[in-house]
Amino acid sequence: MNTINQNDPSVSGNDDDDIVNPWEVKAGSAAGVDYDKIIGKKRIDLEQILTAYEQKTPFYLYTGRGPSSEAMHLGHLVPFIMTKWLQDVFDVPLVIQMTDDEKFLWKDLTVDEANRLAHENAKDIIACGFDKEKTFIFSDFEFMAQCPNFYKNICKIQKCVTYNQVKAIFGFTDSDSIGKIAFPAVQAAPAISTSFPFIFDSEQITQPLPCLIPCAIDQDPYFRMTRDVAPRLNFPKPALIHSTFFPALQGAQCKMSASDINSSIYLTDTPKEIEDKIKKHAYSGGRETLKEHREKGGNCATDVAYQYLKFFLSDDEKLEELKQDYTSGKMLTGELKTILVDVLQKLICEHQERRKQITDDDVKEYMKPRKLKFR
Ligand code: TRP
Repeated sequence: MNTINQNDPSVSGNDDDDIVNPWEVKAGSAAGVDYDKIIGKKRIDLEQILTAYEQKTPFYLYTGRGPSSEAMHLGHLVPFIMTKWLQDVFDVPLVIQMTDDEKFLWKDLTVDEANRLAHENAKDIIACGFDKEKTFIFSDFEFMAQCPNFYKNICKIQKCVTYNQVKAIFGFTDSDSIGKIAFPAVQAAPAISTSFPFIFDSEQITQPLPCLIPCAIDQDPYFRMTRDVAPRLNFPKPALIHSTFFPALQGAQCKMSASDINSSIYLTDTPKEIEDKIKKHAYSGGRETLKEHREKGGNCATDVAYQYLKFFLSDDEKLEELKQDYTSGKMLTGELKTILVDVLQKLICEHQERRKQITDDDVKEYMKPRKLKFR
């Protein structure tokens, strides 16, 4: 069973239960989260967006990041890599919400610290290669005061959702602050194009535009609520595309935790740290002994090195070859891990190079409300 209830321990007590909510993701089995259970039978819902693209009607992309710490890891990068790919392929504008308000409300952070982290994290996001002419990044704390239409949309959404509904969707209780209870509308509002009149209000664009939201699966509750509300306000329902959950080094059943530096690979790790973490800590789907491994082969479904390669090895044929060799026992865990180490050292090194070039002025430019370029 999948649960989005954060406060009911009984729901997460059973061993084969997945826990997937905006505050925690933990798979019930080593093979990872069961997505079918969360999203239902229809895996992809892009008709509306693809039709818009074919008919050359504009649409936009919306994604975001909760700036809870300076230390971003590989898993945080996944939705942004996917978003960058979509921006390049469709050639559309992108808005990126930095929810410093959310992290202030949920974590032990001051307002100013959360806002500072929004700017720090924006550098890592920009380093993913987003086109400055087509990308607007905003902090909620700042944007709320810059754009009345944003706040107006938040209020329209808030008026449509009852406490009972958010309680059912997010598992809020009577002791949660009213800030938390009101917040889901803040994350929903950027899915409505009229929140950005300086981008989407022009002579050519007279109607609200549809939007596509690339995000990790744990953000699903927010956008279920948004899809429910949008038509009632006469706005198009946003379309969603989920990146699959990125497992901790110790495997899909373990939580990536900020307090355990060995549970993930950080964007600031050195090549040596990357190698040590993978070799020492990546959960292996290989067999106990060499003899047994050669006979029975490894298990790709639980092997973290293979799972990571699925995300970061762009050559699909090579990936399939590795899968067959590992599954048949021809390839050993150590060999698979060496391939992953090479891929990640290169990826992280290139990311660090790009991040170094990004100045505070660059961040300011991305975060300035302005017109964006359309195809
Ligand atoms: N709540 C998200 C987080 O904690 C941040 C976020 C805001 C987001 N808007 C989004 C993520 C849209 C994906 C899509 O990381």
